[in-house]
Formats: sequence, C-alpha cells, structure tokens
Amino acid sequence: MVEVETLEQAENDFLRAAQEAAATIVQWRRAIHENPELGFAEHRTAALIATELEKMGLPVTSGVAGTGVVGLLAGGGPGRVIAIRADMDALPLQEMTGLPFASRQPGLMHACGHDAHVAMSLGAAMLLSRVKEDLPGQVKFVFQPCEETPPGGARAMLAAGVLSNPPVDCIVALHVNPHLPAGMVGYKEGTAMAAADQFTVRVLGQGGHGSSPHQGVDAVVVAAAAVQALQTIVSREINPLEAVVITVGTIHGGQKSNILADRVEFSGTVRTLTPEMRQRVPQVMRRVLEGVAAAHRARIEMDYEAGYPPLVNDPQVLQLVVAAAEKVVSRQRLLRVQHPAMGSEDFAFFAEAVPAAHFDLGVARKNNTNYPWHHSHFDLEEAALPAGAAVLAQIAWDYLHGT
Ligand code: NI
Repeated sequence: MVEVETLEQAENDFLRAAQEAAATIVQWRRAIHENPELGFAEHRTAALIATELEKMGLPVTSGVAGTGVVGLLAGGGPGRVIAIRADMDALPLQEMTGLPFASRQPGLMHACGHDAHVAMSLGAAMLLSRVKEDLPGQVKFVFQPCEETPPGGARAMLAAGVLSNPPVDCIVALHVNPHLPAGMVGYKEGTAMAAADQFTVRVLGQGGHGSSPHQGVDAVVVAAAAVQALQTIVSREINPLEAVVITVGTIHGGQKSNILADRVEFSGTVRTLTPEMRQRVPQVMRRVLEGVAAAHRARIEMDYEAGYPPLVNDPQVLQLVVAAAEKVVSRQRLLRVQHPAMGSEDFAFFAEAVPAAHFDLGVARKNNTNYPWHHSHFDLEEAALPAGAAVLAQIAWDYLHGT
C-alpha cells in the first residue's frame, strides 16, 4: 500500500473520490514508471491499461495503431461523446532520481510524466465508471503511443479511426508541469503550443590541403557563415513580435585538422505558431542558405521535414475545462498563461480533427528541487495526481450534462 499525502480537504465530489483512490492512482503511476517503454513499444503499459479498464467494466480495444488502447465508457443514457487522451511513451534517458520506484530498464525513463498521464486517465475512468448510470453519453479513453518522436502516435491513431465509431464530439488532454505549484491548472487561450519542424543542411565544398584553402572550398567556413545567417532571419526577415525559433542542434564535418573539409552537415528545429509562418520560414531559410553558398562558391542542400502542427485550443472546450478545473481545484489554483509554449505536442493533430483543449497540471515538488521535462532527475509531486484525475472526470461529467 502506498502512503499518499493529499493536498487538502476536498469539497468537490470527484476530488474527494480521487483522493480516496489516491493510493491506486499512484500505484499505477509507479508501476508504469518502473517499466518505461519507448514509442510504439508500450506493450506492458498497454497491457496494464487494458487490464485496469476491463476491471472497471469498460470494453477495450487494444493494438490500435500498434500499441494504442481505447476504452469506451457508455453512460446510462444517450448523449454526446467526449474523449480523454493520454500519451504512454518514455524517453531514451538514464534515470538518476534514485527513487525507490525508479526505472528498472537501463537507458529508459519516464522523464516527461506520461506515466502520470496514464495514471490520471485511468483514475478518471474509475471515477466516471462508478457514476456511469447518471451519465448521458459516452466517454472514450484514448491511450496513445509515441508522443515523443515524430511522426508520432496521434496521427496513426487518427488514421486507425479512433475518433469515429462512435464519433467523438470533443477531446481533452493534460500535461504535467514541474514549474507550476502542485494541483494548479494552467491554460492558454487560442494557440497554446508551437509547430515543430526539422531541417538538415548539407554544405558541399571542395577538399584540399589545410594550408591552401583558397585552392578549395572550405565547407567549415561556409557552414559557420550559414549558421550565423540563419540566426538573423528572426528580427531581420521576420517581425520579432512573431514568435519564431530557429535552433541548430547538431553540426558535423571534417576529418583532420590540416585537411580542408569538403562537406559539413548540420540539423535543427524550427518552431512557429501560425500556418503562415510555418510556410514562410523554410522559404526564407532556403534563400539565405543559397545566398551564403553562392558567396562562397559552395553548394548547399536542405531537407525540411514537417513535424507537429501548432496546438490550438477551441474556445468553448477550453471554457469547459476551466470551469470544471475551478470546481475541482478552486479558482485560486487556476493560472491563465499569457504566452504560448514553443514546445510541441502531437495532441495538435487531434485538435485539428475535432474541437479540443489541452491544459497543464502543476506537479512541482514541495522541496523545490524541480527539474525540467526530459531531465534525468525529473520527478513530480504525486499528491497532485488525484486532482488531475478529478479534473478530467469533472470535464467529462460537465460536458455530457451540457453545463
Ligand atoms: Ni510529454
């Protein structure tokens, strides 16, 4: 039995029920945390989810888009259909937390909180399954593989028809946030997260002796100029008030200190918030790179790959989320976020398909040693998990009751 501290005395029915079930929710999270699995390999995680949903009496479809799991909770009467989505995958990272339930898989870690997302979604399924007779409509629990690596699991699940049969009217999801106080709900109106696309650039020069670079074309110098030139696009080509990020993350080239490099390759990520910018940035990059190449008698090739689109919250669904969160965690624990995050989320594909809302749940630790997502020391405050489960349950309840 796991001892779990709760945030405070609950006035909300779902929160009270979730706090009573806190040990179960935390045990799910720890079981998944101990056995992290990479995208499209979430076999044990999917099996745990299917077993627990079946125990709650939900019909379960496994193997959706590989390792995805869908549970359908049918209420006591007819009505609309709301989906709750959780991602399941871990990261290729060695865990360094030293927690008693730390990863048992070398080189794999739940360092983004997807273990907690699964536990909270299962918690919501448990809470709602107990009151299903009073529920007009259906709740679809969507457990998605592979959020971390494009093209991602969301698109695969959409292609597998996860939003049809029965057709889903709206979808919600949450993400834990270690920078928000535990139990706080953060939300952003409109565009909440960025599009993430990636590029690879090959600089093709001409080799030779390092003592006589004028007789060749030094790909290292051209690549250095190209990397610098790309950084002038934001602010010199694009209004700095438009949020755009161009980051070069890798650069490789050359064989030896006195050999002129004939080839350098670098790669990076581009973050944008609108379809217009998403289309424009690669066009500008191509022109700038070709100009730099021409100036140095080199050739430059660029491959540009689309990743996840911007994540846009639907105003009505977000309003539903905020109202439900207020009932569960109180108005004092709501935070309206001013700026979109330049991170990305493949939940954005669901949000392109049906009205959707995505929000953050604070999981900052009380001892204030909070590490960011994707860090080998990443950890979260488990006392916040019942609140997350209760918010998800309250959202579904309110939506189906038309409030
Ligand atoms: Ni994540």
